[in-house]
Amino acid sequence: MFSICFVCLGNICRSPTAEVVMRSLLAAEGLSDRVRVSSAGTGDWHVGEGVDPRSLAALTARGYDGSGHRARQFAAHWFDEHDLVVAMDRSNERNLRALAPARDREKIRLLMSFVPDSPDVDVPDPYYGDDGFTRVLDMIEHACRAMLAEIRPRLST
Ligand code: 4NP
Repeated sequence: MFSICFVCLGNICRSPTAEVVMRSLLAAEGLSDRVRVSSAGTGDWHVGEGVDPRSLAALTARGYDGSGHRARQFAAHWFDEHDLVVAMDRSNERNLRALAPARDREKIRLLMSFVPDSPDVDVPDPYYGDDGFTRVLDMIEHACRAMLAEIRPRLST
């Protein structure tokens, strides 16, 4: 099974949002049994917590179910088990590159790098504001659709 882990800082806002959106897209395309999706944070402050209520509200408003998430911290040995480790911003990407064994560095991608000609490089960290959550969800929905189009040829039949 093709395996994707989305990674942000706290694993309570952006990466669980991407996990939920991608899982929903895969289900809609009948691809749930081909791709495993998860998420994690590079930091450990929120381990065990659910999705931030502001991200949860943005997800719920669009019909996604963000309940049931429990935040986890990414561990270096997880590279082995994933085909793609998808960072939300360049800071997450740097942290992941520092953790990754050399042979696994090519598995690390920025989420927005899947969007052809994207004006945005990073999915901005919404945690310390109050109004960035809908824009973050917009960006993630757009990028997940582009990501699925790119990885589709790599999914076994
Ligand atoms: P996330 O957002 O990385 O998208 O989950 C954050 C959550 C918590 C913190 C920072 C960003 N924090 O500093 O606690």
